[in-house]
Amino acid sequence: MLLSSLLNSAPSRLLAVSSFIALALPALAQDRTTEAGEASITDPTLECTAYYYAPVGTALAAGEFPTVWQSATLLPNDTEGQQIWASIQPSVPTNIQPKGNRNSSLANVTYDAVADPDCWWTVGQAGHKCTTPKHNGLPNDTWNVPEPLTAGYGFDDGPNCSHNAFYDFLTSQNQKATMFYIGSNVMNHPVEAQRAIADGHEICVHTWSHGYMTSFPSSAAFAELWYTMKAIKLVTGVTPKCWRPPYGDVDDRIRAIAHGLNLTTILWGWDSNDWQNGIGGVTDADVDNFYSQFVGNATAGNFNSVGGIILTHELNNYTMSKAIEWYPRLTAAFKHLLPVSVALNISQPYVETNYSLPTFAQCHTTANPSNASTTSGSTSSGTGTGSGSGTTNTSGASAAFSPRVLLVGTLAAVFGAIAAL
Ligand SMILES: *[C@@H]1O[C@H](CO)[C@@H](O)[C@H](O)[C@H]1NC(C)=O
Ligand SMILES: *[C@@H]1O[C@H](CO)[C@@H](O)[C@H](O)[C@H]1NC(C)=O
Ligand SMILES: *[C@@H]1O[C@H](CO)[C@@H](O)[C@H](O)[C@H]1NC(C)=O
Ligand SMILES: *[C@@H]1O[C@H](CO)[C@@H](O)[C@H](O)[C@H]1NC(C)=O
Ligand SMILES: *[C@@H]1O[C@H](CO)[C@@H](O)[C@H](O)[C@H]1NC(C)=O
Ligand SMILES: *[C@@H]1O[C@H](CO)[C@@H](O)[C@H](O)[C@H]1NC(C)=O
Ligand SMILES: *[C@@H]1O[C@H](CO)[C@@H](O)[C@H](O)[C@H]1NC(C)=O
Ligand SMILES: *[C@@H]1O[C@H](CO)[C@@H](O)[C@H](O)[C@H]1NC(C)=O
Ligand SMILES: *[C@@H]1O[C@H](CO)[C@@H](O)[C@H](O)[C@H]1NC(C)=O
Ligand SMILES: *[C@@H]1O[C@H](CO)[C@@H](O)[C@H](O)[C@H]1NC(C)=O
Ligand SMILES: *[C@@H]1O[C@H](CO)[C@@H](O)[C@H](O)[C@H]1NC(C)=O
Ligand SMILES: *[C@@H]1O[C@H](CO)[C@@H](O)[C@H](O)[C@H]1NC(C)=O
Repeated sequence: MLLSSLLNSAPSRLLAVSSFIALALPALAQDRTTEAGEASITDPTLECTAYYYAPVGTALAAGEFPTVWQSATLLPNDTEGQQIWASIQPSVPTNIQPKGNRNSSLANVTYDAVADPDCWWTVGQAGHKCTTPKHNGLPNDTWNVPEPLTAGYGFDDGPNCSHNAFYDFLTSQNQKATMFYIGSNVMNHPVEAQRAIADGHEICVHTWSHGYMTSFPSSAAFAELWYTMKAIKLVTGVTPKCWRPPYGDVDDRIRAIAHGLNLTTILWGWDSNDWQNGIGGVTDADVDNFYSQFVGNATAGNFNSVGGIILTHELNNYTMSKAIEWYPRLTAAFKHLLPVSVALNISQPYVETNYSLPTFAQCHTTANPSNASTTSGSTSSGTGTGSGSGTTNTSGASAAFSPRVLLVGTLAAVFGAIAAL
Protein backbone atom coordinates (compact mmCIF):
# COMPACT_ATOMS: atom_id res chain seq x y z
CA MET A 1 0.00 0.00 0.00
CA LEU A 2 2.74 2.38 0.94
CA LEU A 3 4.69 2.11 -2.26
CA SER A 4 1.71 1.85 -4.55
CA SER A 5 -0.01 4.81 -2.98
CA LEU A 6 2.90 7.18 -2.72
CA LEU A 7 5.43 6.12 -5.27
CA ASN A 8 3.07 6.47 -8.09
CA SER A 9 3.45 7.23 -11.74
CA ALA A 10 5.24 10.58 -11.39
CA PRO A 11 8.83 10.09 -12.52
CA SER A 12 10.28 11.80 -9.47
CA ARG A 13 8.47 9.31 -7.29
CA LEU A 14 9.98 6.38 -9.14
CA LEU A 15 13.42 7.76 -8.53
CA ALA A 16 12.61 7.93 -4.88
CA VAL A 17 11.89 4.19 -4.56
CA SER A 18 15.45 3.10 -4.08
CA SER A 19 16.26 5.78 -1.56
CA PHE A 20 13.12 5.27 0.46
CA ILE A 21 14.24 2.26 2.43
CA ALA A 22 17.66 3.73 3.05
CA LEU A 23 16.25 7.00 4.28
CA ALA A 24 13.44 5.57 6.32
CA LEU A 25 15.47 5.40 9.51
CA PRO A 26 17.43 8.64 9.27
CA ALA A 27 14.23 10.36 8.18
CA LEU A 28 12.79 9.70 11.61
CA ALA A 29 14.96 12.57 12.76
CA GLN A 30 12.70 14.82 10.71
CA ASP A 31 8.98 14.83 11.27
CA ARG A 32 7.56 14.12 7.83
CA THR A 33 3.96 13.85 8.98
CA THR A 34 3.24 17.39 10.14
CA GLU A 35 3.23 20.66 8.27
CA ALA A 36 5.70 22.28 10.65
CA GLY A 37 8.06 19.31 10.51
CA GLU A 38 8.09 19.24 6.74
CA ALA A 39 8.40 23.04 6.47
CA SER A 40 11.56 22.95 8.59
CA ILE A 41 13.47 20.76 6.11
CA THR A 42 16.08 22.71 4.15
CA ASP A 43 17.67 19.92 2.11
CA PRO A 44 15.75 19.67 -1.21
CA THR A 45 16.68 15.99 -1.58
CA LEU A 46 15.17 15.12 1.76
CA GLU A 47 12.17 17.35 1.02
CA CYS A 48 11.52 15.29 -2.11
CA THR A 49 11.92 11.88 -0.48
CA ALA A 50 8.58 10.07 -0.31
CA TYR A 51 6.85 9.68 3.04
CA TYR A 52 3.69 8.06 4.32
CA TYR A 53 0.80 10.25 5.38
CA ALA A 54 -2.02 8.16 6.79
CA PRO A 55 -5.12 10.14 5.69
CA VAL A 56 -3.94 10.03 2.06
CA GLY A 57 -2.67 6.45 2.19
CA THR A 58 -5.95 5.27 3.70
CA ALA A 59 -8.13 7.13 1.19
CA LEU A 60 -6.12 5.81 -1.77
CA ALA A 61 -6.20 2.26 -0.43
CA ALA A 62 -9.98 2.53 -0.03
CA GLY A 63 -10.31 3.45 -3.70
CA GLU A 64 -11.76 6.89 -2.93
CA PHE A 65 -9.61 8.68 -5.53
CA PRO A 66 -8.47 8.08 -9.11
CA THR A 67 -4.88 6.97 -9.71
CA VAL A 68 -2.53 9.92 -9.28
CA TRP A 69 -1.10 11.40 -12.47
CA GLN A 70 -3.61 9.57 -14.65
CA SER A 71 -6.65 11.22 -16.24
CA ALA A 72 -9.42 11.15 -13.66
CA THR A 73 -12.73 9.40 -14.20
CA LEU A 74 -15.76 9.55 -11.98
CA LEU A 75 -15.64 6.45 -9.78
CA PRO A 76 -18.80 4.31 -10.07
CA ASN A 77 -19.09 3.83 -6.31
CA ASP A 78 -18.53 7.50 -5.43
CA THR A 79 -22.18 8.13 -4.56
CA GLU A 80 -21.67 11.77 -3.54
CA GLY A 81 -19.72 12.56 -6.73
CA GLN A 82 -22.27 10.74 -8.89
CA GLN A 83 -25.10 12.66 -7.27
CA ILE A 84 -23.45 16.06 -7.77
CA TRP A 85 -22.53 15.20 -11.36
CA ALA A 86 -26.14 14.17 -12.04
CA SER A 87 -27.28 17.56 -10.77
CA ILE A 88 -24.77 19.47 -12.93
CA GLN A 89 -25.01 17.45 -16.14
CA PRO A 90 -28.33 18.92 -17.40
CA SER A 91 -26.77 22.41 -17.56
CA VAL A 92 -23.69 21.34 -19.54
CA PRO A 93 -23.97 22.29 -23.25
CA THR A 94 -24.41 19.19 -25.40
CA ASN A 95 -23.44 20.88 -28.68
CA ILE A 96 -19.75 21.13 -27.77
CA GLN A 97 -17.66 18.00 -28.34
CA PRO A 98 -14.35 17.09 -26.64
CA LYS A 99 -11.37 18.40 -28.59
CA GLY A 100 -8.02 16.71 -29.34
CA ASN A 101 -6.43 14.63 -26.60
CA ARG A 102 -5.11 15.17 -23.09
CA ASN A 103 -1.71 16.26 -24.40
CA SER A 104 -3.05 18.71 -26.98
CA SER A 105 -6.61 19.85 -27.41
CA LEU A 106 -5.64 21.23 -30.82
CA ALA A 107 -4.60 17.83 -32.19
CA ASN A 108 -6.65 16.95 -35.27
CA VAL A 109 -9.38 19.46 -34.49
CA THR A 110 -11.31 21.44 -37.08
CA TYR A 111 -12.72 24.57 -35.48
CA ASP A 112 -13.87 27.97 -36.68
CA ALA A 113 -11.52 30.08 -34.60
CA VAL A 114 -12.91 33.33 -36.02
CA ALA A 115 -16.53 32.71 -35.08
CA ASP A 116 -15.31 30.86 -31.96
CA PRO A 117 -18.76 29.47 -31.06
CA ASP A 118 -17.51 27.73 -27.89
CA CYS A 119 -15.54 30.70 -26.49
CA TRP A 120 -12.47 28.45 -26.61
CA TRP A 121 -9.62 30.35 -24.97
CA THR A 122 -6.91 28.21 -26.54
CA VAL A 123 -7.51 29.37 -30.13
CA GLY A 124 -7.51 33.10 -29.36
CA GLN A 125 -4.71 35.46 -30.25
CA ALA A 126 -2.74 36.90 -27.34
CA GLY A 127 -4.73 39.78 -25.90
CA HIS A 128 -7.94 38.76 -27.67
CA LYS A 129 -8.66 35.40 -26.09
CA CYS A 130 -12.30 34.66 -25.33
CA THR A 131 -13.21 35.13 -21.67
CA THR A 132 -16.86 36.13 -22.16
CA PRO A 133 -18.88 32.92 -22.54
CA LYS A 134 -21.27 32.59 -25.46
CA HIS A 135 -23.59 30.13 -23.76
CA ASN A 136 -26.18 31.53 -21.37
CA GLY A 137 -25.83 31.44 -17.63
CA LEU A 138 -22.06 31.36 -17.41
CA PRO A 139 -20.05 34.06 -15.61
CA ASN A 140 -17.12 35.77 -17.32
CA ASP A 141 -13.67 34.35 -16.65
CA THR A 142 -11.43 36.42 -14.40
CA TRP A 143 -8.26 37.48 -16.21
CA ASN A 144 -7.49 40.83 -14.59
CA VAL A 145 -8.28 42.63 -11.33
CA PRO A 146 -10.24 45.85 -10.91
CA GLU A 147 -7.89 47.70 -8.57
CA PRO A 148 -5.30 50.10 -10.08
CA LEU A 149 -1.61 49.20 -9.92
CA THR A 150 -2.51 45.82 -8.47
CA ALA A 151 -1.04 42.49 -9.53
CA GLY A 152 -2.84 39.22 -8.88
CA TYR A 153 0.08 37.01 -7.87
CA GLY A 154 -0.26 33.26 -8.31
CA PHE A 155 1.68 30.07 -8.95
CA ASP A 156 0.54 27.03 -10.90
CA ASP A 157 1.37 23.32 -10.62
CA GLY A 158 2.27 22.95 -6.94
CA PRO A 159 2.71 21.75 -4.38
CA ASN A 160 6.26 20.98 -5.50
CA CYS A 161 8.11 18.77 -3.04
CA SER A 162 11.10 21.15 -2.89
CA HIS A 163 9.16 24.36 -2.28
CA ASN A 164 10.45 25.23 1.19
CA ALA A 165 13.11 27.70 0.03
CA PHE A 166 10.51 29.51 -2.06
CA TYR A 167 7.81 29.56 0.63
CA ASP A 168 10.44 30.66 3.17
CA PHE A 169 11.22 33.57 0.86
CA LEU A 170 7.56 34.58 0.51
CA THR A 171 7.15 34.40 4.28
CA SER A 172 10.25 36.54 4.83
CA GLN A 173 8.59 39.19 2.69
CA ASN A 174 5.20 38.74 4.35
CA GLN A 175 3.96 38.03 0.83
CA LYS A 176 0.83 35.95 0.14
CA ALA A 177 -0.08 34.44 -3.20
CA THR A 178 -2.61 32.16 -4.86
CA MET A 179 -1.43 28.57 -5.26
CA PHE A 180 -3.14 26.66 -8.08
CA TYR A 181 -2.60 23.10 -6.90
CA ILE A 182 -2.68 19.90 -8.96
CA GLY A 183 -4.69 17.20 -7.16
CA SER A 184 -2.08 14.52 -7.87
CA ASN A 185 0.62 16.71 -6.33
CA VAL A 186 -1.57 17.34 -3.28
CA MET A 187 -1.89 13.56 -2.78
CA ASN A 188 1.84 13.03 -3.24
CA HIS A 189 2.86 16.02 -1.11
CA PRO A 190 0.05 16.55 1.40
CA VAL A 191 1.92 18.32 4.20
CA GLU A 192 3.47 20.64 1.62
CA ALA A 193 -0.09 21.55 0.60
CA GLN A 194 -0.87 22.26 4.25
CA ARG A 195 1.98 24.74 4.27
CA ALA A 196 0.09 27.00 1.86
CA ILE A 197 -2.70 27.37 4.41
CA ALA A 198 -0.33 27.72 7.36
CA ASP A 199 1.54 30.49 5.53
CA GLY A 200 -1.67 32.33 4.64
CA HIS A 201 -1.67 31.68 0.90
CA GLU A 202 -4.82 30.98 -1.07
CA ILE A 203 -5.39 27.59 -2.72
CA CYS A 204 -7.29 27.14 -5.99
CA VAL A 205 -7.83 23.98 -8.06
CA HIS A 206 -5.55 23.20 -11.02
CA THR A 207 -7.12 19.83 -11.94
CA TRP A 208 -6.21 16.26 -10.99
CA SER A 209 -3.72 15.37 -13.73
CA HIS A 210 -3.00 18.58 -15.67
CA GLY A 211 -4.35 17.48 -19.04
CA TYR A 212 -6.05 19.70 -21.63
CA MET A 213 -9.50 20.02 -20.08
CA THR A 214 -11.43 20.56 -23.32
CA SER A 215 -10.22 17.11 -24.46
CA PHE A 216 -12.03 15.23 -21.71
CA PRO A 217 -15.56 13.81 -21.86
CA SER A 218 -17.77 15.87 -19.55
CA SER A 219 -17.92 13.40 -16.66
CA ALA A 220 -14.13 13.05 -16.75
CA ALA A 221 -13.67 16.84 -16.76
CA PHE A 222 -15.97 16.91 -13.74
CA ALA A 223 -13.80 14.23 -12.10
CA GLU A 224 -10.60 16.24 -12.74
CA LEU A 225 -12.09 19.11 -10.72
CA TRP A 226 -14.09 17.15 -8.16
CA TYR A 227 -11.27 14.90 -6.96
CA THR A 228 -8.90 17.84 -6.71
CA MET A 229 -11.41 19.68 -4.52
CA LYS A 230 -11.72 16.51 -2.42
CA ALA A 231 -7.94 16.07 -2.20
CA ILE A 232 -7.44 19.66 -1.01
CA LYS A 233 -10.27 19.25 1.50
CA LEU A 234 -8.83 15.93 2.74
CA VAL A 235 -5.40 17.31 3.51
CA THR A 236 -6.01 20.99 4.30
CA GLY A 237 -9.61 21.03 5.56
CA VAL A 238 -10.79 23.66 3.07
CA THR A 239 -12.62 23.45 -0.26
CA PRO A 240 -11.56 25.98 -2.93
CA LYS A 241 -14.03 28.06 -4.92
CA CYS A 242 -11.66 28.90 -7.78
CA TRP A 243 -9.78 26.98 -10.45
CA ARG A 244 -7.39 27.63 -13.31
CA PRO A 245 -7.41 25.49 -16.46
CA PRO A 246 -4.00 24.03 -17.36
CA TYR A 247 -2.72 25.82 -20.49
CA GLY A 248 -5.78 28.08 -20.15
CA ASP A 249 -7.63 25.38 -22.08
CA VAL A 250 -11.30 26.09 -21.37
CA ASP A 251 -14.49 26.39 -23.40
CA ASP A 252 -18.14 26.85 -22.48
CA ARG A 253 -18.63 23.11 -21.86
CA ILE A 254 -15.83 23.05 -19.30
CA ARG A 255 -16.91 26.42 -17.86
CA ALA A 256 -20.40 24.99 -17.24
CA ILE A 257 -18.93 22.04 -15.33
CA ALA A 258 -16.72 24.29 -13.20
CA HIS A 259 -19.61 26.68 -12.60
CA GLY A 260 -21.74 23.73 -11.48
CA LEU A 261 -19.06 23.00 -8.86
CA ASN A 262 -19.11 26.67 -7.80
CA LEU A 263 -15.57 27.18 -9.11
CA THR A 264 -14.66 30.58 -10.57
CA THR A 265 -12.46 30.32 -13.67
CA ILE A 266 -9.24 32.31 -13.19
CA LEU A 267 -7.05 32.96 -16.23
CA TRP A 268 -4.36 35.61 -16.68
CA GLY A 269 -3.49 38.56 -18.88
CA TRP A 270 0.28 38.21 -18.62
CA ASP A 271 2.32 35.04 -19.07
CA SER A 272 5.88 34.75 -17.76
CA ASN A 273 6.31 31.53 -19.78
CA ASP A 274 8.63 30.45 -16.98
CA TRP A 275 7.60 26.78 -17.29
CA GLN A 276 8.77 26.80 -20.88
CA ASN A 277 12.41 27.73 -20.23
CA GLY A 278 14.48 25.30 -22.29
CA ILE A 279 11.40 24.00 -24.15
CA GLY A 280 10.59 24.85 -27.76
CA GLY A 281 13.41 27.38 -28.03
CA VAL A 282 12.29 29.51 -25.06
CA THR A 283 15.33 30.80 -23.17
CA ASP A 284 16.02 32.34 -19.79
CA ALA A 285 16.39 35.71 -21.55
CA ASP A 286 12.91 35.27 -23.04
CA VAL A 287 11.46 34.63 -19.58
CA ASP A 288 13.20 37.78 -18.30
CA ASN A 289 11.67 39.64 -21.21
CA PHE A 290 8.14 38.42 -20.38
CA TYR A 291 8.49 39.44 -16.74
CA SER A 292 10.00 42.71 -17.89
CA GLN A 293 7.00 43.51 -20.10
CA PHE A 294 4.66 43.12 -17.13
CA VAL A 295 6.81 45.35 -14.93
CA GLY A 296 7.44 47.79 -17.79
CA ASN A 297 3.74 48.25 -18.44
CA ALA A 298 3.17 48.98 -14.75
CA THR A 299 5.96 51.53 -14.75
CA ALA A 300 4.59 53.08 -17.93
CA GLY A 301 1.24 53.65 -16.20
CA ASN A 302 -0.69 51.03 -18.16
CA PHE A 303 -2.16 49.55 -14.97
CA ASN A 304 -3.22 52.88 -13.55
CA SER A 305 -6.91 52.13 -13.95
CA VAL A 306 -7.11 48.30 -13.93
CA GLY A 307 -4.63 45.77 -12.51
CA GLY A 308 -3.34 42.55 -14.06
CA ILE A 309 -2.83 38.87 -13.30
CA ILE A 310 0.52 37.25 -14.09
CA LEU A 311 0.99 33.52 -14.70
CA THR A 312 4.02 32.01 -12.97
CA HIS A 313 4.77 28.51 -11.66
CA GLU A 314 5.68 26.56 -8.56
CA LEU A 315 6.96 23.89 -10.92
CA ASN A 316 10.65 23.50 -10.27
CA ASN A 317 13.77 25.19 -8.98
CA TYR A 318 14.04 27.38 -12.07
CA THR A 319 10.51 28.83 -11.95
CA MET A 320 10.65 29.42 -8.20
CA SER A 321 14.12 31.01 -8.42
CA LYS A 322 12.86 33.23 -11.23
CA ALA A 323 9.97 34.38 -9.05
CA ILE A 324 12.40 35.31 -6.28
CA GLU A 325 14.66 37.12 -8.74
CA TRP A 326 11.81 39.27 -10.09
CA TYR A 327 10.07 39.85 -6.78
CA PRO A 328 11.77 43.17 -5.92
CA ARG A 329 10.92 44.60 -9.32
CA LEU A 330 7.28 43.51 -9.05
CA THR A 331 6.85 45.11 -5.66
CA ALA A 332 8.60 48.24 -6.90
CA ALA A 333 6.35 48.55 -9.94
CA PHE A 334 2.99 47.68 -8.37
CA LYS A 335 1.28 49.22 -5.40
CA HIS A 336 -0.39 45.93 -4.44
CA LEU A 337 0.89 42.42 -5.06
CA LEU A 338 -1.87 40.14 -3.80
CA PRO A 339 -3.49 36.72 -3.95
CA VAL A 340 -6.07 36.86 -6.72
CA SER A 341 -9.10 36.64 -4.40
CA VAL A 342 -7.76 39.43 -2.20
CA ALA A 343 -7.24 41.54 -5.32
CA LEU A 344 -10.91 40.88 -6.08
CA ASN A 345 -11.89 41.85 -2.52
CA ILE A 346 -12.99 38.29 -1.74
CA SER A 347 -11.95 37.49 1.81
CA GLN A 348 -13.75 34.16 2.23
CA PRO A 349 -12.16 32.05 -0.47
CA TYR A 350 -13.43 28.64 0.64
CA VAL A 351 -16.70 26.78 1.05
CA GLU A 352 -15.90 26.56 4.77
CA THR A 353 -16.80 30.00 6.08
CA ASN A 354 -14.63 29.82 9.19
CA TYR A 355 -11.48 30.73 7.24
CA SER A 356 -10.71 34.22 5.97
CA LEU A 357 -7.97 35.84 3.95
CA PRO A 358 -6.88 39.33 4.95
CA THR A 359 -8.87 42.09 3.29
CA PHE A 360 -7.51 44.16 0.45
CA ALA A 361 -6.69 46.97 2.89
CA GLN A 362 -4.86 44.64 5.31
CA CYS A 363 -2.74 42.83 2.78
CA HIS A 364 0.81 43.50 1.66
CA THR A 365 1.11 46.94 0.16
CA THR A 366 4.19 48.60 -1.26
CA ALA A 367 4.72 52.28 -0.73
CA ASN A 368 6.30 53.65 -3.83
CA PRO A 369 5.16 52.09 -7.06
CA SER A 370 7.66 53.16 -9.61
CA ASN A 371 5.16 55.02 -11.76
CA ALA A 372 4.63 57.52 -9.00
CA SER A 373 8.14 58.58 -8.10
CA THR A 374 11.76 58.25 -9.07
CA THR A 375 12.47 54.97 -7.34
CA SER A 376 15.19 52.91 -8.95
CA GLY A 377 13.33 49.64 -9.09
CA SER A 378 12.67 49.78 -12.80
CA THR A 379 13.31 47.10 -15.36
CA SER A 380 17.00 46.62 -14.81
CA SER A 381 18.60 43.51 -16.19
CA GLY A 382 20.24 42.51 -12.94
CA THR A 383 20.17 38.89 -11.94
CA GLY A 384 20.18 37.14 -8.63
CA THR A 385 17.92 37.73 -5.70
CA GLY A 386 17.48 41.06 -4.09
CA SER A 387 18.90 42.99 -7.01
CA GLY A 388 16.06 45.47 -7.17
CA SER A 389 15.48 48.36 -4.88
CA GLY A 390 12.58 50.52 -3.85
CA THR A 391 10.86 47.55 -2.21
CA THR A 392 9.29 48.34 1.08
CA ASN A 393 7.08 46.69 3.64
CA THR A 394 5.27 49.76 4.73
CA SER A 395 1.76 48.82 5.56
CA GLY A 396 1.26 48.63 9.28
CA ALA A 397 -1.74 46.47 8.57
CA SER A 398 0.37 43.82 6.92
CA ALA A 399 1.88 42.97 10.26
CA ALA A 400 -1.57 41.95 11.39
CA PHE A 401 -1.32 38.90 9.20
CA SER A 402 1.63 36.61 9.68
CA PRO A 403 0.16 33.19 10.30
CA ARG A 404 3.45 31.35 10.52
CA VAL A 405 3.92 32.63 14.06
CA LEU A 406 0.65 30.91 14.81
CA LEU A 407 2.10 27.55 13.91
CA VAL A 408 2.09 26.16 17.37
CA GLY A 409 -0.36 23.33 17.18
CA THR A 410 -2.58 21.54 14.79
CA LEU A 411 -3.74 22.89 11.50
CA ALA A 412 -7.17 23.30 13.04
CA ALA A 413 -5.67 25.70 15.54
CA VAL A 414 -4.21 27.68 12.67
CA PHE A 415 -7.60 27.86 10.97
CA GLY A 416 -9.12 29.10 14.15
CA ALA A 417 -6.49 31.76 14.63
CA ILE A 418 -6.71 32.94 11.04
CA ALA A 419 -10.48 32.97 11.11
CA ALA A 420 -10.32 35.13 14.19
CA LEU A 421 -8.36 37.88 12.45
C1 LIG B 1 -14.80 1.69 -5.19
O1 LIG B 1 -14.38 1.18 -6.43
C2 LIG B 1 -12.98 1.02 -6.55
C3 LIG B 1 -12.68 0.57 -7.96
O2 LIG B 1 -13.21 1.48 -8.86
C4 LIG B 1 -12.50 0.03 -5.53
O3 LIG B 1 -11.09 -0.08 -5.61
C5 LIG B 1 -12.88 0.49 -4.15
O4 LIG B 1 -12.55 -0.48 -3.20
C6 LIG B 1 -14.36 0.80 -4.07
N1 LIG B 1 -14.60 1.46 -2.80
C7 LIG B 1 -15.58 1.12 -2.01
C8 LIG B 1 -15.70 1.91 -0.74
O5 LIG B 1 -16.37 0.22 -2.27
C1 LIG C 1 0.35 11.96 -23.44
O1 LIG C 1 1.74 12.02 -23.19
C2 LIG C 1 2.20 10.99 -22.31
C3 LIG C 1 3.67 11.20 -22.02
O2 LIG C 1 4.13 12.40 -22.49
C4 LIG C 1 1.97 9.64 -22.98
O3 LIG C 1 2.38 8.62 -22.09
C5 LIG C 1 0.49 9.47 -23.27
O4 LIG C 1 0.28 8.28 -23.98
C6 LIG C 1 -0.03 10.64 -24.10
N1 LIG C 1 -1.48 10.52 -24.18
C7 LIG C 1 -2.15 10.74 -25.31
C8 LIG C 1 -3.62 10.57 -25.24
O5 LIG C 1 -1.60 11.10 -26.34
C1 LIG D 1 -4.19 12.91 -36.38
O1 LIG D 1 -4.90 11.93 -37.09
C2 LIG D 1 -4.06 11.10 -37.89
C3 LIG D 1 -4.93 10.20 -38.74
O2 LIG D 1 -6.01 9.73 -37.98
C4 LIG D 1 -3.15 10.30 -36.95
O3 LIG D 1 -2.27 9.48 -37.69
C5 LIG D 1 -2.33 11.29 -36.14
O4 LIG D 1 -1.56 10.58 -35.18
C6 LIG D 1 -3.23 12.27 -35.41
N1 LIG D 1 -2.40 13.28 -34.77
C7 LIG D 1 -2.51 13.60 -33.50
C8 LIG D 1 -1.57 14.65 -33.01
O5 LIG D 1 -3.32 13.09 -32.75
C1 LIG E 1 -18.53 40.16 -19.15
O1 LIG E 1 -17.58 40.74 -20.02
C2 LIG E 1 -18.19 41.53 -21.05
C3 LIG E 1 -17.08 41.95 -21.99
O2 LIG E 1 -16.06 42.55 -21.30
C4 LIG E 1 -18.91 42.70 -20.43
O3 LIG E 1 -19.54 43.46 -21.43
C5 LIG E 1 -19.94 42.19 -19.45
O4 LIG E 1 -20.52 43.28 -18.77
C6 LIG E 1 -19.32 41.27 -18.44
N1 LIG E 1 -20.34 40.69 -17.62
C7 LIG E 1 -20.30 40.72 -16.30
C8 LIG E 1 -21.43 40.08 -15.58
O5 LIG E 1 -19.40 41.27 -15.70
C1 LIG F 1 9.97 42.77 4.73
O1 LIG F 1 9.70 42.38 6.06
C2 LIG F 1 10.27 41.17 6.42
C3 LIG F 1 9.87 40.84 7.84
O2 LIG F 1 8.70 41.48 8.19
C4 LIG F 1 11.78 41.27 6.30
O3 LIG F 1 12.37 40.02 6.60
C5 LIG F 1 12.13 41.62 4.87
O4 LIG F 1 13.52 41.79 4.74
C6 LIG F 1 11.44 42.91 4.50
N1 LIG F 1 11.72 43.22 3.12
C7 LIG F 1 12.16 44.38 2.75
C8 LIG F 1 12.43 44.52 1.31
O5 LIG F 1 12.36 45.31 3.52
C1 LIG G 1 -22.97 25.61 -5.04
O1 LIG G 1 -23.47 26.68 -4.26
C2 LIG G 1 -24.87 26.60 -4.04
C3 LIG G 1 -25.28 27.87 -3.33
O2 LIG G 1 -24.50 28.05 -2.19
C4 LIG G 1 -25.19 25.35 -3.24
O3 LIG G 1 -26.57 25.24 -3.06
C5 LIG G 1 -24.70 24.15 -4.02
O4 LIG G 1 -24.86 22.97 -3.25
C6 LIG G 1 -23.22 24.28 -4.35
N1 LIG G 1 -22.82 23.20 -5.23
C7 LIG G 1 -21.82 22.38 -4.94
C8 LIG G 1 -21.53 21.33 -5.96
O5 LIG G 1 -21.17 22.47 -3.92
C1 LIG H 1 3.85 46.24 -22.50
O1 LIG H 1 3.52 44.92 -22.89
C2 LIG H 1 3.59 44.72 -24.30
C3 LIG H 1 3.16 43.28 -24.54
O2 LIG H 1 1.82 43.14 -24.20
C4 LIG H 1 4.97 44.91 -24.79
O3 LIG H 1 5.00 44.79 -26.19
C5 LIG H 1 5.45 46.30 -24.41
O4 LIG H 1 6.80 46.43 -24.74
C6 LIG H 1 5.29 46.51 -22.91
N1 LIG H 1 5.65 47.87 -22.55
C7 LIG H 1 6.67 48.16 -21.75
C8 LIG H 1 6.91 49.61 -21.50
O5 LIG H 1 7.34 47.30 -21.22
C1 LIG I 1 0.77 56.34 -10.76
O1 LIG I 1 -0.38 55.58 -10.39
C2 LIG I 1 -1.25 56.26 -9.52
C3 LIG I 1 -2.33 55.28 -9.07
O2 LIG I 1 -3.06 54.85 -10.17
C4 LIG I 1 -1.81 57.48 -10.24
O3 LIG I 1 -2.66 58.16 -9.36
C5 LIG I 1 -0.67 58.37 -10.66
O4 LIG I 1 -1.17 59.44 -11.42
C6 LIG I 1 0.34 57.60 -11.50
N1 LIG I 1 1.50 58.43 -11.75
C7 LIG I 1 2.03 58.56 -12.95
C8 LIG I 1 3.25 59.42 -13.04
O5 LIG I 1 1.59 58.00 -13.94
C1 LIG J 1 9.82 19.85 -8.07
O1 LIG J 1 10.98 20.62 -8.17
C2 LIG J 1 12.16 19.85 -8.19
C3 LIG J 1 13.34 20.79 -8.13
O2 LIG J 1 13.49 21.52 -9.31
C4 LIG J 1 12.17 19.00 -9.44
O3 LIG J 1 13.32 18.18 -9.46
C5 LIG J 1 10.95 18.11 -9.45
O4 LIG J 1 10.86 17.41 -10.66
C6 LIG J 1 9.68 18.93 -9.28
N1 LIG J 1 8.56 18.01 -9.07
C7 LIG J 1 7.53 17.93 -9.92
C8 LIG J 1 6.48 16.93 -9.57
O5 LIG J 1 7.43 18.61 -10.92
C1 LIG K 1 17.43 25.90 -6.00
O1 LIG K 1 18.37 24.87 -5.77
C2 LIG K 1 19.47 25.26 -4.98
C3 LIG K 1 20.41 24.07 -4.93
O2 LIG K 1 19.75 22.96 -4.40
C4 LIG K 1 18.99 25.66 -3.59
O3 LIG K 1 20.08 26.09 -2.81
C5 LIG K 1 17.99 26.80 -3.74
O4 LIG K 1 17.45 27.11 -2.46
C6 LIG K 1 16.88 26.40 -4.67
N1 LIG K 1 15.99 27.54 -4.86
C7 LIG K 1 14.68 27.45 -4.79
C8 LIG K 1 13.91 28.71 -4.98
O5 LIG K 1 14.10 26.40 -4.58
C1 LIG L 1 -11.77 46.76 -2.75
O1 LIG L 1 -11.44 47.17 -1.45
C2 LIG L 1 -10.77 48.41 -1.42
C3 LIG L 1 -10.30 48.66 -0.02
O2 LIG L 1 -11.26 48.30 0.91
C4 LIG L 1 -11.74 49.48 -1.90
O3 LIG L 1 -11.08 50.72 -1.91
C5 LIG L 1 -12.17 49.14 -3.32
O4 LIG L 1 -13.15 50.04 -3.76
C6 LIG L 1 -12.72 47.73 -3.42
N1 LIG L 1 -12.85 47.40 -4.82
C7 LIG L 1 -13.85 46.71 -5.31
C8 LIG L 1 -13.78 46.41 -6.76
O5 LIG L 1 -14.78 46.34 -4.62
C1 LIG M 1 -14.18 24.93 10.21
O1 LIG M 1 -15.33 24.29 9.72
C2 LIG M 1 -15.14 22.93 9.36
C3 LIG M 1 -16.43 22.40 8.82
O2 LIG M 1 -16.97 23.27 7.87
C4 LIG M 1 -14.72 22.12 10.56
O3 LIG M 1 -14.44 20.79 10.16
C5 LIG M 1 -13.48 22.74 11.16
O4 LIG M 1 -13.15 22.06 12.35
C6 LIG M 1 -13.70 24.20 11.47
N1 LIG M 1 -12.48 24.76 11.95
C7 LIG M 1 -12.43 25.52 13.04
C8 LIG M 1 -11.09 26.00 13.44
O5 LIG M 1 -13.43 25.84 13.64
